[in-house]
Amino acid sequence: MCGIVAAVADRNIVPVLLEGLRKLEYRGYDSAGLALINELGLQRLRAVGRVAELTAQVDETGAAGNTGIAHTRWATHGVPSERNAHPHISDGLAVVHNGIIENHEALRTRLKADGYEFTSDTDTEVIAHLIAHELKTTGDFFTAVRASIAQLQGAYAIAVLREVEPDRVIVAREGSPLLLGLTDEGNYAASDASALLQVTRRMVYLDNGDCAELLRGSYRITRVDGTPVERAETESQLSADSVELGQYRHYMQKEIFEQPVALSNTLELIGAARSIQPGLLGADAEVTLKDVRQILIIACGTSYHAGLVARYWLEAIAGISCSVEVASEYRYRDSVPDPQTLVVTISQSGETADTLAALHHAKAQGMMRTLAICNVPESSLVRETALRFITRAGPEIGVASTKAFTTQLAALYLLTLVLAKLRGRLTAEHESAELTALRHLPVAVAKVLELEPQIKEWAGHFAMKQHALFLGRGRHYPIAMEGALKLKEISYIHAEAYAAGELKHGPLALVDKEMPVIAVAPNDTLIEKLKSNLQEVRARGGELYVFADADSEMQESDGVHVLHLPEHYGALSALLHVVPLQLLSYHVALVRGTDVDKPRNLAKSVTVE
Ligand code: F6R
Repeated sequence: MCGIVAAVADRNIVPVLLEGLRKLEYRGYDSAGLALINELGLQRLRAVGRVAELTAQVDETGAAGNTGIAHTRWATHGVPSERNAHPHISDGLAVVHNGIIENHEALRTRLKADGYEFTSDTDTEVIAHLIAHELKTTGDFFTAVRASIAQLQGAYAIAVLREVEPDRVIVAREGSPLLLGLTDEGNYAASDASALLQVTRRMVYLDNGDCAELLRGSYRITRVDGTPVERAETESQLSADSVELGQYRHYMQKEIFEQPVALSNTLELIGAARSIQPGLLGADAEVTLKDVRQILIIACGTSYHAGLVARYWLEAIAGISCSVEVASEYRYRDSVPDPQTLVVTISQSGETADTLAALHHAKAQGMMRTLAICNVPESSLVRETALRFITRAGPEIGVASTKAFTTQLAALYLLTLVLAKLRGRLTAEHESAELTALRHLPVAVAKVLELEPQIKEWAGHFAMKQHALFLGRGRHYPIAMEGALKLKEISYIHAEAYAAGELKHGPLALVDKEMPVIAVAPNDTLIEKLKSNLQEVRARGGELYVFADADSEMQESDGVHVLHLPEHYGALSALLHVVPLQLLSYHVALVRGTDVDKPRNLAKSVTVE
């Protein structure tokens, strides 16, 4: 997703802007640009592709300046191209923007009627013209920016500069992140702290609805209506190297605990949105998705489990038929292609050989509507699909995937809602409830993480076991599968997952007092059926470990251990219920003394067949 860096200082700030953009590359982008004020007036450079292409232009032109704004763009409105790359210019002022302006069409119509000419397909250009227009009446740059953003609906972080005021940058945010970096030689702004650590650790985080004026020697913050506000200055503790372990013993533990942040980063674009926009999935999403007839999800391992959960959502909420295939099977299978299928590939790394080959296979059969859900923006998978959603889990080092999985689920839920909306199955009321539930998700996950001490206690019961059974029903059956995969890959305990209804069709024969049975049991429509399945286990002497939730009435009894998750979370409960299973595997592995982050025989990125 887009990244912003802005600067006004007593030095040439171009190297700072470029280094800042490089630090923001992880957010995902397809073009980059910057605008400077220098002896040429307002100078703009833009390039499709990598920040390296923009750097080459800077080297070629010798561009330099004391005031500038820079941007990496991840296309939502308008294809990736130089003309759509930011900054956008109107009447001597330049704007960069992160987010989506939902009312851009109405504003564009009005501005066109006022004589403004548009040179791009972006929603951002509307902001540039709007500020230029407001300047004509207000005469003051800061006031004009505030008057303009008061008219915007949607999510944004913006930075603006003006040729005739060379020592002034105005920034504002609503929904999308933005912070200030303070130094004695000038002031800076960026989408996240990592971009500014090169010059300072003194940061000021802006709140939603804040606007700020940056000068070389000072800054001030106001609300949109101009009321001055103070925001605390903090000393950033962020490591320049985000892959350091910090307070954690293992990367897997760190990554489990990073899930609330990973989810809020992944869901950043809906932060202040009032509606769900197809543009979340890329500039052409609406056209590509409109008459899709069915969904085919292809992935491996944990990513495959994310796809299995999504099938329940896609069919129930979006009303679209969905199949999910293991990539290594699909690529060699004679299947029946349908060009109106949306092929969704899911991968943390974006380099998994089987998933890539399966995508090639689907395309070779004429299925060109493709979407990647991936954590690595520069990966092969992302380059080869028509649409993409970059999960913002941050680097995942532990071989066992954790935060990548939950962010994949969040992305798949957004896809479900986008399709439901395009297919007329999402009322405004439902849409707003879904947005509220998604926004609260990071907090809900954080509360589940507080159960760690109890889960640690349970882990002791498993350490000496050789086998374990995981049970779930409905969309929690794939969560049981994921729990079993986590346990086997890092603790080397043999674990199998079953749809609980299948128990008496065979696996019940395995159950005795040596077989711990873990049940994923949120209070959904299948809870009574699941309870009967659990009775069957208990009657055969099996020890039960039940992950219930706040609403379920499951009680502890002899041989039945119950842990209640703090909230019941409806359709999204799969996202919460996987977290205790991750923690359980982690603590069982610790007790058994295995190499948690690098389990034997496994690799993080499976780039061979
Ligand atoms: C398990 C795990 C693997 C991966 C699988 C696919 O914890 O991490 O099962 O999910 O190898 O990898 P990606 O998602 O990179 O395609």
